[in-house]
Parts: sequence; C-alpha cells; structure tokens
Amino acid sequence: MSNEPKKKRVAALISGRGSNMASLIEAARAPDYPAEIALVLSNRPDAAGLAFARAQEIKSVALDHKAYVNRADFERAMQAVLVEERIDLVCLAGFMRLLTAEFVEAWQGKMLNIHPALLPSYKGLHTHERALADGVKIHGCTVHYVATDMDAGPIIAQAAVPVLDADTPDTLGARVLAREHAIYPHALRLAAEGALRIENGRVLGGGDSEGFLMAPAI
Ligand code: GAR
Repeated sequence: MSNEPKKKRVAALISGRGSNMASLIEAARAPDYPAEIALVLSNRPDAAGLAFARAQEIKSVALDHKAYVNRADFERAMQAVLVEERIDLVCLAGFMRLLTAEFVEAWQGKMLNIHPALLPSYKGLHTHERALADGVKIHGCTVHYVATDMDAGPIIAQAAVPVLDADTPDTLGARVLAREHAIYPHALRLAAEGALRIENGRVLGGGDSEGFLMAPAI
C-alpha cells in the first residue's frame, strides 16, 4: 500500500467548449496534484468538451436536461452518477444550468465554480460586454464555492487583467480566459489538499496568491 494521500475524485460539469475542464485535466496529470478528474458530465450531449474528455479516456456522461420533466428530476439523475462514481468534489466549468438549493446544499463546501468576472461585480451573463460598457479598467475572473444564490459564495481565488482601449468583448474575454485556466487548477489544488477553511463567508488558508494579481504600470 502506498502512503501517498488519496487523490480527491473530481467531476467537471460542462455545457460547451470545456476549456476550463481541459485545464483541470492537464493540471491533474502532475503526479503531485491532489485531485483526479474522474468524471466529466454534460447537460448537453453535443458539448465539444465531451469529445476532448473521451479522447483522454476520462469517464464522460451526457445527461440531456431536456429529457427530464423538471430541474429536480435532472439533478437526481446527476446526483446518481456522482454518487456512483464516488465523487468528492464537483467543479462547475462553464456549466450553464441553474442548480436548485437542494443540490447546492448537498454539495456545500465541495462544489466550485469559475466565473468570468471579479465577483461580486458582473454576476450572470455577458460579463465582458458589461465591463466594457461600464468603462472599468480592471476585469478578471473568480473561483468560488457555490452557494444557493447564483454567482455567489465564498471566494477562493481571483485573477485580474487590464482592460485596454482597443478591447472588444472577444479580446477581453480571451485575456480573462487565459487567467481562468491558471486560477481554476490553483483553486482546485487548494480545495483538494484541504488547505482551505471558510470563516464568516471568507475563504482563508489559500496562502499568498500575489502571482495572480495584475498591477497596472504607472
Ligand atoms: C468560461 O469563461 C466560464 O468562466 C464561463 O463560461 C465559460 C466556459 O468556457 N462560465 C460562466 O459564465 C458561468 N456563470 P469553457 O467551456 O471553455 O470552460
């Protein structure tokens, strides 16, 4: 028997492209990474990320939400797969379905989400368009524990990027996405190691994450 601590079994939940899922899969290849991506689950059978995960020989399941009579029924099906696969942690990675309070509570402190904005600013959709429209000079992304309110919950990690004069939603989104791919594996590592604790809504124990901060040159 090995004395190595057992890796946490992680499910990545996706709805589309799956680039954040891919960044987690890549990171989890490192022998010292404390988690393995044991399952990819999509609510859309045509999600491009499913093909990538299958090519990596990761167990991949599509549960088409449209085939279920309601949200709770769909979530029961998801929960059955998560339990069957002995999942310890869930990573929402571009999973575009709202979750019921019941499902969120079942995974309290064990479900992470990545959002393409510096929460609590710009919850919801079209974050890059809205940041540009507001003229903010700094934008970014957030990994947080999932709470029952949408795009809320204790923040694990954030990365900031500059907003440049020539930016379009696409160029700004690409700059943010590159940082998403760095902070999500970082945040999952901290969560899987058991390094984090939540006190009064704040995540503590994440250590120094200065490496993710962008300071404008003045
Ligand atoms: C990512 O930018 C992620 O932050 C965002 O969807 C994109 C998915 O891309 N998530 C949300 O907006 C959730 N509120 P990906 O499929 O390539 O990871």
